[in-house]
Amino acid sequence: MRKSLQYWIERRQWEGLAEIDALGSILNDPSLQDGGWELGSFLATGTREIASLLALLESINASPPDWDSALDFGCGVGRLTRALAFRFAYVTGVDASATMLCKARSINGDLTNVEFITNTSSGLENVTNSAYSIVVSSIVLQHIPPPHAERFISEFFRVLKPGGIAAFQIPVEDLRQVSLLRRILWKIRPRALLALLGVGKEFSFSMHTVPEDRIREIIERAGADVCAVLSTNHTNSDFNGAIEIVEKGGHNGGLASRLFVVRKPLTWA
Ligand SMILES: C[S@@+](CC[C@H](N)C(=O)[O-])C[C@H]1O[C@@H](n2cnc3c(N)ncnc32)[C@H](O)[C@@H]1O
Repeated sequence: MRKSLQYWIERRQWEGLAEIDALGSILNDPSLQDGGWELGSFLATGTREIASLLALLESINASPPDWDSALDFGCGVGRLTRALAFRFAYVTGVDASATMLCKARSINGDLTNVEFITNTSSGLENVTNSAYSIVVSSIVLQHIPPPHAERFISEFFRVLKPGGIAAFQIPVEDLRQVSLLRRILWKIRPRALLALLGVGKEFSFSMHTVPEDRIREIIERAGADVCAVLSTNHTNSDFNGAIEIVEKGGHNGGLASRLFVVRKPLTWA
């Protein structure tokens, strides 16, 4: 019950953020908040991110088995969905926020090979088994409470086709030195709670971590093969879609972020 309430609150926060400044809440570059992003430059970050992700996968021998279909989990306004649509025959964007998806449909109305699906449950029930060549998730799982994030990761393997690749990013450790009082205040977030009740507009998001060992366990239980686990800069506030491989133990926005690249085996029980 408590977990479901927390999950509901997190999703409601994203609805509020999407209404106020969707682009600035997705890419948090401090110099581009409060409506500072210009749509063309924002979408260009998606093109750059997908180009470097696919080049990275190729460099580690983990390219998708074909270019048929991609799933963008936590797609927001379709920044990455759009870029994937120029590489794959068909792309599905999934998000929990109806407002984000409304904007995604409008921004990507010129594309005929994308669909956007609202998903408010803690699994991917609306997504078919063994359908996708690749599942991509960037700067999303960090905003989902761990039990739900873990469930989504195991769902990625169900929806991938045999030989398909999951490339998902998630922070594995919080390195911030935050006092207990600040931690408690941040958990309660009085202004964010008031915004949920319709008082003010100070919506905010949380950052969650799932330990690397726990994620490896989920992958192992799914019978999938880890191709690489890379330490990245995704949690830096000026990330802006420019993926960099950083030193493990590096302090990226105070969190240790990992990009997991995992292949679903050709024979999958
Ligand atoms: C920081 S944005 C990233 C959007 C997109 N991946 C990108 O990089 O442009 C995080 C997104 O995750 C979505 N989200 C949060 N919780 C979710 C959930 N439980 N299921 C699906 N999407 C979720 C939010 O609505 C938001 O659009």
